[in-house]
Formats: sequence, C-alpha cells, structure tokens
Amino acid sequence: VRTAADHVPDSTDVAELRAAAQTCQGCDLYRDATQTVFGAGDPRARVMLVGEQPGDVEDRQGEPFVGPAGGVLERALADADLDRRHAYVTNAVKHFKFIPAERDKRRLHKTPGRTEIVACRPWLVAELAAVRPPVLVCLGATAAKAVFGPEFRVSRQRGQVLPPPADLAGLADLATTDDRESPADNSSARSGPAVVATIHPSAVLRAHDRDDMYVGLVDDLRVVARELG
Ligand code: URA
Ligand code: SF4
Repeated sequence: VRTAADHVPDSTDVAELRAAAQTCQGCDLYRDATQTVFGAGDPRARVMLVGEQPGDVEDRQGEPFVGPAGGVLERALADADLDRRHAYVTNAVKHFKFIPAERDKRRLHKTPGRTEIVACRPWLVAELAAVRPPVLVCLGATAAKAVFGPEFRVSRQRGQVLPPPADLAGLADLATTDDRESPADNSSARSGPAVVATIHPSAVLRAHDRDDMYVGLVDDLRVVARELG
C-alpha cells in the first residue's frame, strides 16, 4: 500500500521533516489541498498534541490549529495551566480533506478514513522520534485511532494516562540518565510517551452543551498537566 514512508527522510530534525513533507504524495489528499500543514511549536516540547487534520483556515495559512478549533484549544490549555507556546501541535493527517464549497464559502471538512490515517502515520512517528515528548495528547477520535488503531474509543478511555502502543514505546525522553536509578525506572523510561486521549476542540463548538463539553476537555488536559508534573 502507498504511504508517506517513502517521503519521510531519516532525520530527527523537525524543520527537515517539515520541508520534506511539503512534497509528500503518500495518499491522494495532496491533490486538492493547498499545502501540507506540518506540526508546529516547540521542537523540544514535553507535550505533543495531535489533532485530526488541518481545517479550512489551516489549509490556507499552512499552520495547525490557527482557526476556530485552535482558539478553543488555546483557551482550554491555558485553563488547564498548560501553555500552547511550550507545546508541539500537529495533526494525524497533514492535508485538508474537504467537500468542495461554492465560491468564497468555507470548505467543509470531511473526516479522513483509515487509508489516509495509515498513509500519513509515518510523519507522526517521525515527529514523535524527533520531539520525544514524555506526554502525547490525542485530540479526538481520528488522532486516537491514528495512535492506537481503529478499535480505540475516546468515549471509553478519555482522561486516562495510557501506555503507548508497542511501536511508539521508547519514543520519549522521560528522565535524564542520572534520574534512572533502578532497572525498573529504566524500563519505564523506555516505555513512554504516556498517552492521554480527549475530545476534539471542534466538538465543543458543535455541541449543544458547549459548557459541559469544554469543562470535560479542560479536565482531561489537567490530567496531562499533572502527568507533566
Ligand atoms: N482541526 C484539527 O484537527 N486540526 C487543525 O489543525 C485544525 C482543526
Ligand atoms: Fe502525505 Fe499525509 Fe498529505 Fe497524504 S495526507 S499526501 S500521507 S502528508
């Protein structure tokens, strides 16, 4: 099957990865989107946040979470005592999948399918290997399924600190060598990043019970803040 793997350079430099992703043709989404929207933020962040895919605004501007969902995310992070400027923010799928709209209207997002999630996953793995965050946050079902596989249910496992899937274990800097005193500490250091799944910020915007949804998002992000210590 066609994936991004052929386009991902052997590099742990985020800028180098971002440059290479501009010409990715790992799935068909590059054809209609404006540009690749790669992850952005602190390349040495202790927390990586993964969304679904760029939206209309992100597709035009080339940056993740700069539209309405980004506003909700930024506020929720601040309310959980996390600072977006100290995070690395990316998406499970790096091109905008959309239903074409009439001229000058906002294009409507279309949920990426398993094919695109799997095709784009090598970029996410490369970002993890470059940033090595101790905590990885999945914002919504697409991100969680990209990380854990199609059986994952956010409704059941949100707000919990979960071990990473086997192929992502070890892609985290959890402690300095000095901090690892026992073999047990060592093995737990190898098993990171810890993963926390929550709802997607745009679910807050769509919900009838916006306030409750928002509080739930902030509560889950507080779990992240606690995990970061
Ligand atoms: N929604 C996402 O999942 N990601 C973005 O970057 C913007 C909106
Ligand atoms: Fe490549 Fe991902 Fe874009 Fe598909 S969505 S072309 S895999 S960067």
